[in-house]
Amino acid sequence: MNALEMTDVTLTYPDGASRLIAVDRAGLTVARGELVALVGPSGSGKSSLLAVAATLITPDSGRVLVDGIETGTLGRSARTALRRDHVGLVFQQPNLIDSLSALDQLTVTALLAGRSRRSAIVEARALLASVGLDGQESRLPAQLSGGQRQRVNIARALMGSPALLLVDEPTSALDHERGAEVMALIRRMTVERNVGTVLVTHDTGHLTGHDRVVECRDGRLLARVPVGR
Ligand SMILES: Nc1ncnc2c1ncn2[C@@H]1O[C@H](COP(=O)(O)OP(=O)(O)O)[C@@H](O)[C@H]1O
Ligand SMILES: [Mg+2]
Repeated sequence: MNALEMTDVTLTYPDGASRLIAVDRAGLTVARGELVALVGPSGSGKSSLLAVAATLITPDSGRVLVDGIETGTLGRSARTALRRDHVGLVFQQPNLIDSLSALDQLTVTALLAGRSRRSAIVEARALLASVGLDGQESRLPAQLSGGQRQRVNIARALMGSPALLLVDEPTSALDHERGAEVMALIRRMTVERNVGTVLVTHDTGHLTGHDRVVECRDGRLLARVPVGR
């Protein structure tokens, strides 16, 4: 079962009297355990594509399957449930809650959704340890570095073992070294957690010859062989 299958997806936004084409007949399949780096200039449609994959925006046309589930026919609450159970989201800014410890950042959503406290805490502790934050569970966001906050953000997105991890420019607020560490972490978690990852970055300096790279140009997707392969 693929984490994501998008077929012939088009998304437009209203633009004065006409429509702006943000995603143009895009197709993308991501297997579990696979990372796809989505690159391309600002305004080329990368975030729009992620929003469609996340079922946050319904496209004008095309098919989107998340973890094998056809999303086009789902209502609002079913999409919310799909996101909660199958999708992890990581945005540029960690948007953590100032008053919550690292551990609570991870458990709060699960607890609100009615999950048992004990199982949520066990999973959150294991995830924080696997992103290198063992012993930092009780720290508040202000007591963590930018790189550590982004690690909490990634760990939080992986709560509940989603099939699909969608990451939008996670390194843009970090220096090069911190950015490289976050990229390496996302690669490792993709394999360890067997999650299909789409990672948007305009910073191609963080990519390696082993990454599968897809380029976004004016809403269209083009497979790209990275330099050095
Ligand atoms: N909510 C929106 N309403 C109207 N136009 C939008 C909206 N979001 C993005 N756009 C436009 O869609 C195009 C693609 O934007 P975006 O997906 O954010 O690209 P990227 O993430 O590659 O920078 C741009 O022309 C942008 O201005
Ligand atoms: Mg963007």
